[in-house]
Amino acid sequence: MATNGRHPKTHRENDGDDEGLDPKKARETTLRDELRACIAELSDFVLARRCAPIMVRLAWHDAGTYDKEVEEWPKCGGANGSIRFAAELAHGANAGLGKAVEMLEPFAKKYPSISYADLYQMASVVGIEAAGGPKISLRYGRKDAGDESGCPPENNLPGAKAPFHDNAKNPAAHLRNIFHRMGLTDQDIVALSGAHTLGRAYKDRSGMGADSTEYTKDVAEGVTPGGSSWTKEWLKFDNSYFVDVKSKKDANLLVLETDACLFEDEEFRVFANKYAEDQDAFFANYEEAHMKLSELGVKWIDDEPIVLED
Ligand code: HEM
Repeated sequence: MATNGRHPKTHRENDGDDEGLDPKKARETTLRDELRACIAELSDFVLARRCAPIMVRLAWHDAGTYDKEVEEWPKCGGANGSIRFAAELAHGANAGLGKAVEMLEPFAKKYPSISYADLYQMASVVGIEAAGGPKISLRYGRKDAGDESGCPPENNLPGAKAPFHDNAKNPAAHLRNIFHRMGLTDQDIVALSGAHTLGRAYKDRSGMGADSTEYTKDVAEGVTPGGSSWTKEWLKFDNSYFVDVKSKKDANLLVLETDACLFEDEEFRVFANKYAEDQDAFFANYEEAHMKLSELGVKWIDDEPIVLED
């Protein structure tokens, strides 16, 4: 499926012979050129298609499977592009994400030096920035899992309501079990949950939320209508998720058990209150947590990441 028909020389195969250059240098130069072009094209694409939310969810679901106790790569999960395979897309938590993989396939074909793992993470940070969120200086050069044997087991991602698949006694304990397994902290859990400032939950994907609400019934042409959003302006990245989850005043807005617990749990609440009051603090902590998330379980193609200058 998604992996077929790519350019014959991928990031792993470009030996640099064509230019008589050092193979590593040649590979890097090509990759840098493609990264810059792809970022520019993707920025226009996510704005035009209003698809930042699903791109953020795709990248998170690729990376968030990471298990720090598993040494073998890519079996440890993480940002390795394995979500493009049918076996992983079929996991219950990934319902609806095949659409995002398909939307990015033309970019994968056009920019063969860019790994799927990089492309998915790129689409997410480009989407967040285009939606008004922080600029996240992603690093590049992630190696892709080569086939379905690199897919993680099901249930590495969090569930949205009890009973939880890890038998956790409450939502906060569930979030800690899942995110601490990735090596992330309580602060990261709360900051990353703020990504729900974007997007919606759909009955026919996760089964959560309403068929449609005051804020989701009328959408721009070409955008899937319906679902329940966490915020009124669900294409804008700001701190309104924390303000709205805290107040729980608007019945048209979604609050999952795992959202509500951020204000119920004593330790989580400290961060959640801070982010509701101070958007700059949220953006700073979000950026830091997102960088960690985007590099979970990553194996760099040439053993070190590529940094693009601004
Ligand atoms: C804390 C535990 C989390 C739970 C239980 C959770 C659960 C969910 C659920 C049930 C949906 C609705 C999916 C659908 O019906 O299409 C969703 C959507 C979404 N999630 Fe999460 N999520 C969590 C964390 C995160 C994190 C860490 C991020 C990103 C950093 C994220 C980003 C998103 C986005 C952007 C959407 C909207 C997708 C769209 O509109 O298509 N979530 N999440």
